[in-house]
Amino acid sequence: MGGQIPEASFRTEHGFAIKPELSLDKGPANGLLMGQNAPREGFEAIYLGKHAETPYRNVWLDTRGAHVLYVMGKRRSGKSYTLGVLAEGLAAQSWVKQGESSQGVLILDTMNVYLTMPFDIENTHSDQSDVVKEFRKWKLSTEQLPMTLFRPRGTTTPTAVNSVEIALRPSDLGSDEWCGLFEVDPFVDPLGHLITELYAKVLTDGYTDSRSGNFVPPNPNFLLQDLLIALEYDHDLDRYHRDTREALRRRLDMLRRVPIFSDTGLDVRQLMRPRHISVLLLRELDQQMRAVLVALIVKRVMQLRGVSEQQERMITIHLARADKLSLSDPTASSREKELAEECQHKAREGLPRSWIIIDEAHNYIPSHGVMPSRKPLKKYVDEGRNLGLSIVVATQQPSGLDPSIQRNADMLLIHALSHHDDIVAAEGMINAACPAEVAIDTRQKIEGGRTFETLVRNLPLGYALASTDRANRLFPIRVRPRATVHGGTDY
Ligand SMILES: Nc1ncnc2c1ncn2[C@@H]1O[C@H](COP(=O)(O)OP(=O)(O)O)[C@@H](O)[C@H]1O
Ligand SMILES: [Mg+2]
Repeated sequence: MGGQIPEASFRTEHGFAIKPELSLDKGPANGLLMGQNAPREGFEAIYLGKHAETPYRNVWLDTRGAHVLYVMGKRRSGKSYTLGVLAEGLAAQSWVKQGESSQGVLILDTMNVYLTMPFDIENTHSDQSDVVKEFRKWKLSTEQLPMTLFRPRGTTTPTAVNSVEIALRPSDLGSDEWCGLFEVDPFVDPLGHLITELYAKVLTDGYTDSRSGNFVPPNPNFLLQDLLIALEYDHDLDRYHRDTREALRRRLDMLRRVPIFSDTGLDVRQLMRPRHISVLLLRELDQQMRAVLVALIVKRVMQLRGVSEQQERMITIHLARADKLSLSDPTASSREKELAEECQHKAREGLPRSWIIIDEAHNYIPSHGVMPSRKPLKKYVDEGRNLGLSIVVATQQPSGLDPSIQRNADMLLIHALSHHDDIVAAEGMINAACPAEVAIDTRQKIEGGRTFETLVRNLPLGYALASTDRANRLFPIRVRPRATVHGGTDY
C-alpha cells in the first residue's frame, strides 16, 4: 500500500506568514507529520492537506499511534468534509495512505451527510467542473474505496444507494441504556429504580409470576414482551407507585412500535472491518435512540477489541520465542509457532484496530443532561488508546462538550469559529503555543495577545489550525479535496 507520492507544488489560495518558524516531525516525502508518538523507521500516515505557509509542504497525520482527534468549527466551516478526508485516507490504497496498517473505520453519521460517499468526484462531475479541476491539481486519484452504508431497521435510503440494515435485540440494551432511552436518572428517579430492578429480574434473577405462582427463570435473550409481563405480574414490583409502573408500561409499549427492535441483534464486527469504511446513518432516529445505539456500539467495540489486543500481544511473544528456540529446541519452537497461529485466529474473532469518527459529537457527549452514550464514550476516549482504538469527534460547539473529553485530545483541527465561548474553549484545548505574530495573505497583520481569536475568526473555508504537542506552535493547513462526493447541503 502507499504508492509514489506525486509532486504537486502550488501555493494554497490563502497564505499565512507566521513567526516563529514551524518545527514539526518529518512526514513522507519531506512533508510534515502530525501526531507521531516517537520517531520510527517508515511511516504509517494519511494525507491531510497542505501547510498554508511557504513552502506549502504536505501535511500527514500519523496512524501508527492511536489518537483522539477533535475537529471543531462553526456551522459550514468544513468539519464534516474533513472527517470524510480522514475516512477516505484510512481506507485508501493509493498514495494518500502510506504504510501497511489496515484499520476499521466507522462513521457515526448523525445527519446522513455521508450518504453520498459511495459516489466519487471524477465519475459524478464533468471534467470541466471546478471540483474535478481542483481534485486533479492536487494530483489525487479516484479509487474504489471499500465502503458499506448501514441503516437502522425501519429507516430508508434512496434507491440508488445500497445500504445494509442493522437492528437491536431488546436484550442488547443494559439497564443504563434503558434508563437513557427513557431519559431517567437510574439513581434519583423512582422510574429509574423500577427500570433497573425490572431489568435485573428479567435478565439475571428471575421472579415469581403472580398468576400461576411459578418461578420465571432469568432469560438473557428476553424480548420487550417479557419486560411487560414481569412488570404486570411480579407482585414484588407493587412496592412502586402505580403511576410509576404505568409510566414504564406505557414507555415499553410504545417501543414495540419502534422498528429498530427485532430478534436479530447487533454484531459490531460487521461495522468494523479492516480497511473498510462503515457509515451508520443515524438521522432518522430520535436523539435518545441514536445515543443508545452509539453507546452499545462503543461498549461492544471496546470489549471485542480488548480480546483481540491481548491475543495480538501474545503473538509477538510466541513468534519471538519460536525464533529464539529454532536451533536449540525445534519441537518447542514449532509449538510456539502453533500458539502464535492460535492467537492470530482468536484475535480475528474480535476486532481489528479501528477508528470511530463521530460527526455532531455534542449530541453524544454533551456537557449537561442524561445521555446513555456519555459514559461509554468517555471510557473510549480515556482507555481506547491502550487498545489501539482511535476516535475523531467533530463539533460546532466545543464549549458544549463534556469537559473531561475536552482535556483528552492529542490533536486538534480547528476550523473557523465565531462564538466567544467556543473560541475560549478551543483555546483552552490547544496543546501547542499560539504564534505571536501572524500575517494572512500579507494584508492582515495580527500581533499581540489576541492572535488565536483573530486567526480562528478569519480562517477561510477548508482551512484549519492544527494543534499537536509535537509542534512548537499552531499551524494552518488547507484540507485536501475529497475523492468522494460530500453531502453537506447548502441551505
Ligand atoms: N476542504 C474543503 N475543500 C473544498 N470545499 C470544502 C472544504 N471543506 C468544506 N467545503 C465545502 O464547504 C461546505 C461546508 O462544509 P461542511 O464540512 O459540510 O461543514 P460543517 O460540517 O462544518 O458544517 C460544503 O459544501 C463543502 O463542500
Ligand atoms: Mg457537518
